[in-house]
Amino acid sequence: MDILDRPAAGSAALNGASIAPTLRLRPDAALTFDDVLLVPRYSEVRSRSQATTRTRFSRRIELAIPIVSSNMDTVTESEMAIALARAGGIGVIHRFLTIHRQADEVRRVKRSQATVVKTPFTLKGDATVGDARAMMGEDGVGGLIVIDGERRPIGIVTRRDIMFFDDDGATIDAVMTPRDRLITAPEGTPIADARRLLDAHRIEKLPLLDADGRLAGLITAKDLEHRAMFPDATIDPTGSLRVAAAVGVRPGFLERAEQLLHAGADALVIDIAHGDSVMAVDAARELRRTFGDNWDMVIGNVATAAGTARLIDVGADGIKVGIGPGSICVTRIVTGFGVPQLSAIAECAPVTAAAGVPMVADGGIKAAGDVVKALAAGAQCVMIGSLLAGTRESPGMVVVRGGRRYKVTRGMASLEANIALQATERQLPAAQIPKKEYERVVPEGVEARVPYRGPVDSILYQLVGGLRSGLSYAGAWTIEELQATAEFVRISPAGQRESGPHDVDL
Ligand code: XMP
Repeated sequence: MDILDRPAAGSAALNGASIAPTLRLRPDAALTFDDVLLVPRYSEVRSRSQATTRTRFSRRIELAIPIVSSNMDTVTESEMAIALARAGGIGVIHRFLTIHRQADEVRRVKRSQATVVKTPFTLKGDATVGDARAMMGEDGVGGLIVIDGERRPIGIVTRRDIMFFDDDGATIDAVMTPRDRLITAPEGTPIADARRLLDAHRIEKLPLLDADGRLAGLITAKDLEHRAMFPDATIDPTGSLRVAAAVGVRPGFLERAEQLLHAGADALVIDIAHGDSVMAVDAARELRRTFGDNWDMVIGNVATAAGTARLIDVGADGIKVGIGPGSICVTRIVTGFGVPQLSAIAECAPVTAAAGVPMVADGGIKAAGDVVKALAAGAQCVMIGSLLAGTRESPGMVVVRGGRRYKVTRGMASLEANIALQATERQLPAAQIPKKEYERVVPEGVEARVPYRGPVDSILYQLVGGLRSGLSYAGAWTIEELQATAEFVRISPAGQRESGPHDVDL
């Protein structure tokens, strides 16, 4: 309903009597993934590897695989985001952290790999071995360039140099490789030449110097190795992994956005449960007004064509679709609102397609077949929460119950996440949040455990393998072709039963 159709507040219509209580009901039943199957088509795809899974997350961010990890505190921090970007997807760092910590998580991803590290970590000549140890521990780097007051390198110190050196009070020159033995190269050295130098001198780090001998960058053996190991990685023009980060719409979101963009976030995701709202629209306008449009703004969540159009009108570069399909969501039970996910995707797709704005289908993915169905219905990529929450790269510990290994996942609107957020905001341990605060929360999510599944790579491999297979059943070489020709059939409960393993002992 357009806002103009609404009776003015205080009018007779709103006050009761004159509105007839009609039941407005859409004529078609809404569907989700398990209600349908895709009909196989003639295929000339001879091998799964021939099809491409390339797609987009947002207007400017291309992906080699259509997988995005959820901005949930049990799913995406830097470790998950690094793994996703290396595999060709992207992670969205959740916002249930202090601004400083969330920006740090972004920085970790951006620094994890690059063609040339533009601003290497440095130490001054009067620093101690203890300073080097602390810096390496905090920032997770294996080497520091020691510089003078003019930023000219006077040495290099690596993790190996301090590993067994016990005197943390000693000055750094006790352990560093000094300038006269330091191998450097001029700024702009081609990668192939840098590779040869690293190899010839059996070194792992090559500082780059400008014409005045000042530190201008760093090429590392590890980065070159990563480039070769992860050819599909989602990278920015400097070779750093791409990462997105979530912001909310409550006071403070502008400061958060500023810090995240400053830390190098490639996209911000405006994360609000009901994205078709004045808060989302105002936040989007405010972000654009304040930070311009040289960055990608993804907004969600919505589940209608009208909501999608409204967010595109305020400058969305990506739309997140899904109200209530998530495995840990109880929004539909608590509020009565939601749209089964396949129908939500199909309703929003004509609007995103017409605007050339990618759609992220968010929630409800249980298996590779759901990814194929979501894409076939019109999404460009899928966002996944609980299926990734059980992996090694998700935040949180592995717990053992009854001899089985688990990790915990939780809805971001669950009681537990709510209390954790209050604790973060007030800078208190969660145990010190007064019990009366617990009673004030109306949770729209639950906490649950998921089986521990090991490294996320193996799950991504299965999801992408299933998608490639799906493309070959569709006779499609690309996701666009899948969308152009996909035909769904609705299935009965008997059809659903037939779709899984049946009548066998597993
Ligand atoms: P899956 O099914 O992949 O879904 O686990 C992940 C998505 O669920 C959404 N989400 C929530 N939705 N209450 C909700 O209604 C919640 O507490 C909640 N937490 C997460 C979110 O869109 C996520 O990407």
